[in-house]
Amino acid sequence: MKRILVAAAPGERAPAQRLADLLGAPLTPVEIHRFPDGESRVSVAEAGRTAIVYCSLDRPNEKLVELALAASALRDLGAERLVLVAPYLCYMRQDKAFHPGEAVSQRVIGAMLARAFERVVTIEPHLHRVHSLADVFPGREATALSAAPLLAEMIRRDGDSEKALIVGPDMESRPWTEAIADELGADFLVLEKTRRGDGDVAITIAQDAPVAGARAYLVDDIASTGSTLAVAARLLMQKGAARVEAVVAHALCGASDLERMLAAGIARLRSTDSVAHSTNAIEVAPLLAGALFEEGAF
Ligand code: R5P
Repeated sequence: MKRILVAAAPGERAPAQRLADLLGAPLTPVEIHRFPDGESRVSVAEAGRTAIVYCSLDRPNEKLVELALAASALRDLGAERLVLVAPYLCYMRQDKAFHPGEAVSQRVIGAMLARAFERVVTIEPHLHRVHSLADVFPGREATALSAAPLLAEMIRRDGDSEKALIVGPDMESRPWTEAIADELGADFLVLEKTRRGDGDVAITIAQDAPVAGARAYLVDDIASTGSTLAVAARLLMQKGAARVEAVVAHALCGASDLERMLAAGIARLRSTDSVAHSTNAIEVAPLLAGALFEEGAF
């Protein structure tokens, strides 16, 4: 049996191959047959002693069952160590029951993945009150990578990045906003957001914020409905920004969300390829490979 192998979930072959190439590991696809009744037959041709399963978990309700079956198939073929590489990790937001009767999805999905995998590697997980990814996967290894270097690199490519204004749309974005500004030697600003519902946010900005004439880059972990970025961009334009762009780790937004963001004044939205999207502008494979490199050492 091979020492290490990368198994690509359906639809993830290209990014999984990029990771496999960097690790010097063979790739095997996870094969799916979907039966007319909606069930799936999941199979893999071979396992490695360490099997790295590449499966970004956007559209999680479609993917989680087949992921669990793929992990089981690899285990049955003799894999001793299963590593999930989920560049986008789902269900991290709901970490408590906000109303009686609500499922704590983070705990449920965390336990499900912890049963199947020895290690989980992800990028910029959307954590709130639970601050450490290790707490989501009890007894397992958990690696949460920062997307800040990738977001900074996209901005750096535009040139004169030290003259840009890096803008975080809410307090949660402060860590990566500061890290990106630091890396570029640029100024930064963090706005204040109140969420009133899905797709409904209000954002405020300090009266004296130095926005007039600025080349502003909104930086965020996720563009979901795009409302956060749209509302923030409109505000920056009203305050006299010369240009507003946005860079995000995970682009989950649909085509109409994207149109709304552009209409709000975002000249361009770029994202990492953690989730396949028309805005992808930088690859996550080198970041993931850096974190996984020691996996090949045994
Ligand atoms: C804050 O909750 C997050 O960092 C993002 O700002 C948020 O998830 C984006 O969601 P939407 O695009 O729906 O405003």
